[in-house]
Amino acid sequence: MIIPKTEAEIKKMKKSGKIVAEFLEKVEKLIKPGISADKIDALAWEITRKRGGHPSFYKYQNYPASVCVSINKEVIHGIPYKEKVIKEGDLVSVDFGVIYDGYHADAAKTFIVGDVDEKTKLLVEVTEKILYEAINYLKPNMRTGDLGSFIENYAKQYGFSVVKEFCGHGIGRKLHEDPPILNYGVEGKGVKIIENLTICIEPMICAGSSDVQILEDGWTVVTKDGSLSAHFEHTIVVRNGENEILTI
Ligand code: MF3
Ligand code: CO
Repeated sequence: MIIPKTEAEIKKMKKSGKIVAEFLEKVEKLIKPGISADKIDALAWEITRKRGGHPSFYKYQNYPASVCVSINKEVIHGIPYKEKVIKEGDLVSVDFGVIYDGYHADAAKTFIVGDVDEKTKLLVEVTEKILYEAINYLKPNMRTGDLGSFIENYAKQYGFSVVKEFCGHGIGRKLHEDPPILNYGVEGKGVKIIENLTICIEPMICAGSSDVQILEDGWTVVTKDGSLSAHFEHTIVVRNGENEILTI
């Protein structure tokens, strides 16, 4: 069932969203060659504790960390192991969620470390652009299939592919609520979007094939062909006018 949020609930989500945004802004400076992913996890804990929130992902279905750090062929859900060290030329996706006063917010960003080739730059640029264009495209009374189709077609125009096994989601009291927000779909199909619905839009875009598999750690999602992938996400509230981003 999809339930719109009250203004009081949206206000709470803005507070958790602000903590997520603060972390994603500060983490950029940390992402340098030689930095191990557990430092990213430590920063997430530090900021969240200071602001009185709690990391949404920690212990969620036994997830062992506060943040996901996915490098290169890792699409999402990369665990920030100490042994995972960032190097020159990496694509590093950082995904983070916070619960504050009973409400979650969730966002992700992909960072380029140093010099990469043009296609890699394009992949990251296009994935970010898809997120913002999708946020502007979505209107009340549209269906989730309209949005999914918009996202997939956008990626295809550049020769990129969208991951089909994972998707965005409603969000609020729970990290994952209805409806699922797929990055592909058929226009006119799916769940009807309503005003004041809070959702996470999260394009996961691959330079090669979008076939993915899960590593032995039970979490890390990687492309089967080893091709690069990028991931951007925001929590938004659907408005009868311009949609509002809550993770800023
Ligand atoms: N942004 C991701 C999601 O919405 C992050 C979840 S990681 C998990 O599913 F550990 F919490 F599963
Ligand atoms: Co999410």
